[in-house]
Amino acid sequence: MRPIDCRHIYLDGRHYDLQINHLDDLAFYLNQIEKYGEPVLEVACGTGRLTIPIAERGIQITGLDISESMLYQAKIKAGAKGVKIEWIEADCRNFNLKKKFNFIFFPANSIAHLHDLESIEACFSCVKKHLLPNGRFVIDMFNPSLSMLIRDPYKRYPVTEYPDPDDKGNVVITYNNVYDSANQINRIKWYYKIDNKEEYSEELNMRIFYPQELDALLYYNRFTIEAKFGNYNMDTFVPSSKKQLIVCYVNR
Ligand SMILES: C[S@@+](CC[C@H](N)C(=O)[O-])C[C@H]1O[C@@H](n2cnc3c(N)ncnc32)[C@H](O)[C@@H]1O
Repeated sequence: MRPIDCRHIYLDGRHYDLQINHLDDLAFYLNQIEKYGEPVLEVACGTGRLTIPIAERGIQITGLDISESMLYQAKIKAGAKGVKIEWIEADCRNFNLKKKFNFIFFPANSIAHLHDLESIEACFSCVKKHLLPNGRFVIDMFNPSLSMLIRDPYKRYPVTEYPDPDDKGNVVITYNNVYDSANQINRIKWYYKIDNKEEYSEELNMRIFYPQELDALLYYNRFTIEAKFGNYNMDTFVPSSKKQLIVCYVNR
C-alpha cells in the first residue's frame, strides 16, 4: 500500500477553510441522510466543512480524518458552534469504530488521495464493515476532463486567493500539472505567493478515476450502484457531467 502523500497540503486547517468555503454539496447530503437515516460517518471530514452544518441539524455524525491539524481546526469550529461531533483521527484504509452507520460518505474528491488499488480496496473494506444492512455509501469524485489533464505544464492557472490567516498579506495560489497516465495520477503543483513576494510550492497528487473504472471498482468490491448523478441537483450522470456522485449499497 502506498503511503498517503497529501499531509503537507492539509498542514493548516485555517488555510483549507479559506481556500474551500463553498457549501453547494450540503443540501444534497442532507437530502440523502433524510432518505437513509443516521448515524452518519463522513470519511476524510477535514475541518468539518460539511460535518458541522450536518450536526447543527441535530443529526448524529462522526467525522474521520488522517490529519491532526485538519481535525484541530474542526474541533475549534464545532466548539464555537456548540455542536457535539465524534472526531476520529484515523486512516480511512484502516479503521475500526466498533459502531455501524446508515449513511457513510466520502465527499469532495477525497478518494483521489488513494493512489493504488490496495489503498482503495482497504478503504472500501472498512466502509463495508461499518455500514448497517440498509445503509448507503456515497462517493463524490470529479469526472476527469481530458483537456485539463493535458494542459501545458509550463503555464500557470489560477486556484484561489484569500487573506493570510496570520496577516502576512494576500495569498494567491496558481497551479500547473503533469499527468502521469501510467499511474493515472495528476501531478499538480500549487504555487503560493504571499503579499506579492514570497513564493513556495507544494505538490498535490490526485488519482484520476474514469467513470467506468470507478463503477467497476465498486462492483468488484461487492457494492451495487443505486444511482449515479452528475451534479448535486441529482441530474443523471452524462459525458458532460462535472461530478461522479455515486450512491451505492453492499451486496449481502
Ligand atoms: C479535499 S479534503 C476534504 C475535506 C472535507 N471532507 C470537505 O469536504 O471539506 C480531503 C481530506 O482527506 C483527508 N485524507 C487524505 N487521506 C486520508 C486517509 N488515508 N484517511 C483519512 N483521511 C484522509 C485529508 O486529511 C483531508 O482532510
